[in-house]
Amino acid sequence: MQVKQAPIGVFDSGYGGLTILKELVAALPSYDYIYLGDNARAPYGTRSFETVYQYTWEAVQWFFEQGCELVVLACNTASAKALRNIQQKNLPVYAPHKRVLGVIRPTAEVIGNYSQTNHIGVLATTGTVQSESYLLEIHHFFPEASVYQEACPMWVPIVENGESDGPGADYFVKKHIDHLLATDPRIDTMLLACTHYPLLIPKISAAVPAHIQVVPQGSIVASSLADYLERHPEIAEKCSTGGQIRFCTTDSTADFDHNGAIFFGKPLKSEHILLGH
Ligand code: DGL
Repeated sequence: MQVKQAPIGVFDSGYGGLTILKELVAALPSYDYIYLGDNARAPYGTRSFETVYQYTWEAVQWFFEQGCELVVLACNTASAKALRNIQQKNLPVYAPHKRVLGVIRPTAEVIGNYSQTNHIGVLATTGTVQSESYLLEIHHFFPEASVYQEACPMWVPIVENGESDGPGADYFVKKHIDHLLATDPRIDTMLLACTHYPLLIPKISAAVPAHIQVVPQGSIVASSLADYLERHPEIAEKCSTGGQIRFCTTDSTADFDHNGAIFFGKPLKSEHILLGH
């Protein structure tokens, strides 16, 4: 009998979700994974709610066709703009037994624990900032926290274009860090609320005062997923465990293999797929 493949789906608009996948694989290595980057339509951060929702739902349906029982939207923009509709409207009708999870709630649940001053800065795409999802979610778990958001619209294009180490990155990183700290000098914790931003950590760390903690999401999301699978054995049992990882992109596989390796930290080989056809 052939064993049914039910990899955990991991989705991002482009390469950023690979920084999350890397941590998921480190924390939960026995599961199978399938990653999809919608590179042909990235970035999502500047697109409307309707468009991000439509693109993300197309991707989720594709994951379901691949046999996934559980999909992680490893993209803050998609989590902010599409997750609620997918969970509340689509899944009950089209796939009541499948699960789609995001990255905002698990991050908001713990970020307050990192701060001594209770002043938290959130660095994110314009779309994530406008959705105000982090403000709502962090205040839900940490009602006393002061949270300031900073939209950094140039950071994803800089990272996607391989300019993370260049002088342009220095300029745009400093611009937004300085602006955020001028808004609230008591911030002692800066959350990288976009999965692309870990590639800018050397520049971000150089731009912030030494007492400020810069917090990426990967390991937070990974421990939250491990906890979820423990609390939901009925879902965990449906996910296949062969330790296989498939990488898929809606754009050039040559570009994905080259750039994706930088985000994932290891060489990888991708397949091309089409969405929305
Ligand atoms: N990496 C995605 C996020 O976490 C956004 C990138 C984009 O704008 O497409 O928000």
